[in-house]
Amino acid sequence: MNDIDTVKFSNGDQMPVLGLGTWKSSSGGIKQKAKRAIAAAYRLLGLEPRQSFTGDVYSTVRYAIAAGYRHIDCAHVYGNEAKIGRALADSFKAGIVTREQMWITSKLWSDCHDPQDVQPALEETLANLQLEYLDLYLMHWPVAMKKGSTFPMTSEKLISLHDLPILDTWRAMESLVDKGLCRHIGVSNFSIAKLQNLLDDAERPPEMNQVELHPYLQQPSLLDFCHKNNIHLTAYSPLGSSDRPESLKTADDPILLEEPTMAAIAKRHGVTPAQVLLSWAIQRGTVVIPKSFNPERLRQNLASANVVLTAEDMQAIAALDLDYRYVDGAFWQVPGGPYTLENIWDL
Ligand code: A2P
Repeated sequence: MNDIDTVKFSNGDQMPVLGLGTWKSSSGGIKQKAKRAIAAAYRLLGLEPRQSFTGDVYSTVRYAIAAGYRHIDCAHVYGNEAKIGRALADSFKAGIVTREQMWITSKLWSDCHDPQDVQPALEETLANLQLEYLDLYLMHWPVAMKKGSTFPMTSEKLISLHDLPILDTWRAMESLVDKGLCRHIGVSNFSIAKLQNLLDDAERPPEMNQVELHPYLQQPSLLDFCHKNNIHLTAYSPLGSSDRPESLKTADDPILLEEPTMAAIAKRHGVTPAQVLLSWAIQRGTVVIPKSFNPERLRQNLASANVVLTAEDMQAIAALDLDYRYVDGAFWQVPGGPYTLENIWDL
């Protein structure tokens, strides 16, 4: 299956609207017992493609590619690029796809915003992914930290955008395209104000903003701004990211996959609530990157590109907006540090 819709870039490149998210797909993967159960179920059902599935990120990516995924969303900070790189290399070697048929995105981590660190960061990602170039490279957060810093965050590890401006990092990102190390550049977690600043001064305007987007966080103004300015949007956590780390959870978080409106729409179309969520994202004109470790759900998510929602469905979902972020960036807001939720999101 190779007929996933695409969004088009000004140079003619096309990015599949549905990709595989790999955040939380740690190298370890699911527990051994669950892996064995999935592999056994898989063999029993004789599901195609006949790819042994053990539930780690390597076999997830191999399975996803064999099932028809042509877009993988990665990031250095996810800590799994080397395994994804092996899965890509083995898929190419096995003749399942060519490099040119795949769209690979990755992201610059915040400790490499110093212009001199940007190209080495991409080169490390390319080495891990066993690739010569990326299709898309994104600045992961509008937040800078000192080289080598890790969580938990403290104020000494952070650098303000006054001391290390986004534009300085962006200039280094622009040169990566000139050098052929990536074909497109963009950002992630950027507000309208930060996008506008970048548009004002960039030589190469950002072509993508990857942000959290789902019916509880619809961001209509951002969607409108991006469409008017030729910036594509990618929706992360499109299913509500229920497997996000405990540190990003609170007791009263709404559970997107349990939303009754979604269940009712899903029932009418004979599909699942997750498929409605993904179809909604695609019908709004965004790219969407659901994460799954599960073969059945990987296939189900890919098939959601064929679900067509009605205008009434879209209206009913539009009414669900809570302006609610699951990934609110509060981990950057530390006492005495330069970042607050107000200045990250420009509230
Ligand atoms: P799993 O990996 O076991 O399939 P998000 O993409 O918003 O970050 O959400 C990822 C979460 O949603 C994971 O817990 C994933 O579990 C789950 N998930 C992925 N696809 C589906 C689906 N089709 N139905 C229900 N849950 C899903």
